[in-house]
Amino acid sequence: MADIAFESLSRWYGETPRRTVLDGVSGQIHGGEFVVVVGRSGSGKSTLLNLLGGLDRPSAGVVRVDGTDLARLSDRDLTALRRRRMGFVFQAYNLIPTLSVADNLRLPLSLNGMADDGRVADWLGRVGLDGRGEDWPDRLSGGEQQRVAIARALIHEPDFILADEPTGNLDLENAERVVSLLDSLCRAEQRTLIMVTHAREVVGLADQLLTIREGRLVEAAEARPAGVPDTGAATP
Ligand SMILES: Nc1ncnc2c1ncn2[C@@H]1O[C@H](COP(=O)(O)OP(=O)(O)O)[C@@H](O)[C@H]1O
Ligand SMILES: [Mg+2]
Repeated sequence: MADIAFESLSRWYGETPRRTVLDGVSGQIHGGEFVVVVGRSGSGKSTLLNLLGGLDRPSAGVVRVDGTDLARLSDRDLTALRRRRMGFVFQAYNLIPTLSVADNLRLPLSLNGMADDGRVADWLGRVGLDGRGEDWPDRLSGGEQQRVAIARALIHEPDFILADEPTGNLDLENAERVVSLLDSLCRAEQRTLIMVTHAREVVGLADQLLTIREGRLVEAAEARPAGVPDTGAATP
């Protein structure tokens, strides 16, 4: 099982005045689904993703991962769950610049007490980067760096992949490659993929579309066209 349920989820900043950026959203994500999150800049997409991935804690409401209320976990247990069960991909790749490509891939393995056992070489191959393990990240193009980040997010076999505008810095060709890699790698092993994106063509691949407007989820019937903005580098 690899489900996430969220109920009346809110996040606000400050007290008087309180600034509410996510306002009582509820939903259900089932194991193996590809969920796409869309909405205008500032609507609360990253806030929602970070709450679902345990990177942030809600102001109100509940996130349950396979029935476990994340609020009941200590910081230490939440970190352990995140390391073991989640993989993250960010717009800016976020590779560690002082580690080689291979050492970037070894990091989630060592954090989880897993041996390499050929996994690093295998994953470099799966993302089309055979033989690039000893390069520094900044020697790679943006598309290559994001493919390393995808391998890093998947190498420890997490149940959930959370990707926040993973194609936001890429040209169309690299964006398509990154999306199809994430989609096929997650589907092949039934990993749940939650992706925030501005790329409209990604919506067609989704099992579930979450449209956020000003901190609230918009019903599917009223979601377009305003919910799917015609912006973003990856839009043709
Ligand atoms: N630490 C913070 N303090 C105050 N406001 C924040 C903070 N983080 C995010 N916000 C605000 O929350 C809103 C939603 O942000 P975000 O979830 O990043 O939007 P999106 O990812 O959809 O562009 C934005 O208006 C942003 O300025
Ligand atoms: Mg964002």
